[in-house]
Amino acid sequence: MGLQQKGMHGTWTSRWTFIMAATGSAVGLGNMWKFPYVAGSNGGGAFVLAYIACILLIGVPVMMAEVAIGRRGRQSPINSMRDIVAESDAHSAWRSIGWLGVVAGMLIISFYAVIAGWALDYIFAMASGELRGATGDLAAGVFGNLLADPTRLVFWQSLFLMLCVGVVVGGVKKGLGVAVEILMPLLFIMLLILLGFSFFRGNFQAGWDFLFTFDFAALTGRGVLEAMGQAFFTLSIGMGAIMAYGAYMPQNANIGKTILTVAFFDSMTAIISGLIIFSIVFATPGVEPSAGPGLMFISLPVAFGNMPGGLLIGSVFFVLVTIAAWSSAISLLEPAVAWLIEAKNMNRIQANSLIAGGTWVLGLGSVFSFNIWADSTVAGFTFFDFLDFLTSNVMLPLSGLLIALFVGYVMKDEFVDDEMQGTSPWVMQCWRAMLRYVAPVAIAAVFVMGIYDKFFA
Ligand code: PHE
Repeated sequence: MGLQQKGMHGTWTSRWTFIMAATGSAVGLGNMWKFPYVAGSNGGGAFVLAYIACILLIGVPVMMAEVAIGRRGRQSPINSMRDIVAESDAHSAWRSIGWLGVVAGMLIISFYAVIAGWALDYIFAMASGELRGATGDLAAGVFGNLLADPTRLVFWQSLFLMLCVGVVVGGVKKGLGVAVEILMPLLFIMLLILLGFSFFRGNFQAGWDFLFTFDFAALTGRGVLEAMGQAFFTLSIGMGAIMAYGAYMPQNANIGKTILTVAFFDSMTAIISGLIIFSIVFATPGVEPSAGPGLMFISLPVAFGNMPGGLLIGSVFFVLVTIAAWSSAISLLEPAVAWLIEAKNMNRIQANSLIAGGTWVLGLGSVFSFNIWADSTVAGFTFFDFLDFLTSNVMLPLSGLLIALFVGYVMKDEFVDDEMQGTSPWVMQCWRAMLRYVAPVAIAAVFVMGIYDKFFA
């Protein structure tokens, strides 16, 4: 049955559609919401340098490996792994890579949709004028009111999931493909408009200095580890998303070049978002740059609220964040949807309803973590914190590590070479060395340190 299923979902129209889809997956809340504040609290420039090193040395090689598995298997991550494990005569335990990715993807989308909902709410919060001339206290109050209101959170979470289902039911060509071909150019145009605004109206020099002055003293070992975790999350590695998208990649596209292009766009977006956010935040006296998760939803609205034309631009900013989150979330639904279609004979509508419905219910746990369940914690975790920790700090490094080892040592060389055709021998050698030695050691270090840090430090 494997053969019959191969390629049943179709392929992207061209290599560029794949690039836009993978960039869409990569560019999300991780770039726009998380990167700026994590960089902010880890010494700015030095963190950016560590982050770029992690992207190039670990992120890109592992991402290439994930795409190679996907394209070889040409099915959902679960079935692609099943077939490649069988044809490589490997132990069936390696199949867990597919399951791990799909399950992690579903857990992530459950809380991702809730945060994307905040961005949706802020499109209107900015436009309504309630933040005009806002002080820090007023903005914190507006954000606090949103978090305290489960009905409002569920409303936005549901709307966001419906937007995602609307795309994914359309399938690879007409749904995902068309969506990314419209959304990604739009995203880049809006990004440039905002960059222009921050350049002329913000304190661009201060934003630039903050991100590009290398203050190594401010970078701790912990910061380097955060840089690595961020590199994985932002490239969408280890969640089955990139593997599923790789399954739809045209056979003649060069994986190395394509993935480098995606990683370039992804890092550029993170840095440009950082420049936009910090230039605007620094333009308003008294606003803290390293404000943590509240940077985007408290500091930034204060800054926008106090600039001429800021409310309109602020609203555009949150449209941009929503689009970025949307094009990421669809890539989290697709692996599980594709698997239900292959294995359970469902059609796209049934598969989407089931997966979106399931993640919606799970998402309620995250919604309640901010209000009625805020005090019910286990080991200091709310439900939301727990899911975030479990996926980002446990499942994702584990899955990345297994992918590196599987393609580095287990998958038959001839299959790997087949997928990597057109890659020069020395690039192949470097890549294999990264997968076999550099990535596993580095990822294992993050994993152990991350766990240690959380529970014993
Ligand atoms: N890369 C996305 C971001 O930066 C998140 C994501 C992770 C999307 C894994 C898909 C899969 O926001």
